[in-house]
Amino acid sequence: MIAIGSDHSGFALKQALMAHLDRRGLAYKDFGTYSEASCDYPVYAKAVANAVVSGECERGIIICGTGIGVSITANKIPGIRAALCGDCFSAEATRLHNDANVLCMGARVVGEGLALKIADTFLDTPFSNDERHIRRISMIEG
Ligand code: RB5
Repeated sequence: MIAIGSDHSGFALKQALMAHLDRRGLAYKDFGTYSEASCDYPVYAKAVANAVVSGECERGIIICGTGIGVSITANKIPGIRAALCGDCFSAEATRLHNDANVLCMGARVVGEGLALKIADTFLDTPFSNDERHIRRISMIEG
């Protein structure tokens, strides 16, 4: 299960992403927001991050205008490794190296086509399980 959320600026991209996940047959839970009315991004970033930390969802995707506010918020929650990605190389590398469990994107930064490819890359790339990466990840919260 994928947790997905956004603020108002990411609402349209979230809708496009959910349609894409539907086409791929991937299950997700929408944590809002549910309209383009102005709202506060930490609410949705925390909802997605908590769903991942609790184990309700395996991965999360959070979108705001820049992706910065949601990534700052999500990374405050122990156990969350949220990666702000604007390209597929970073999305692949953060799965391989950081075992990132939350993808953050900026709807005012990336276009829809790129955002969907970034999400696919993030969701389809497994963690490398390399010893050096396991060690470094353990040092983040150690
Ligand atoms: C909303 O205007 C904007 O500040 C928000 O989406 C995000 O970019 C914050 O980091």
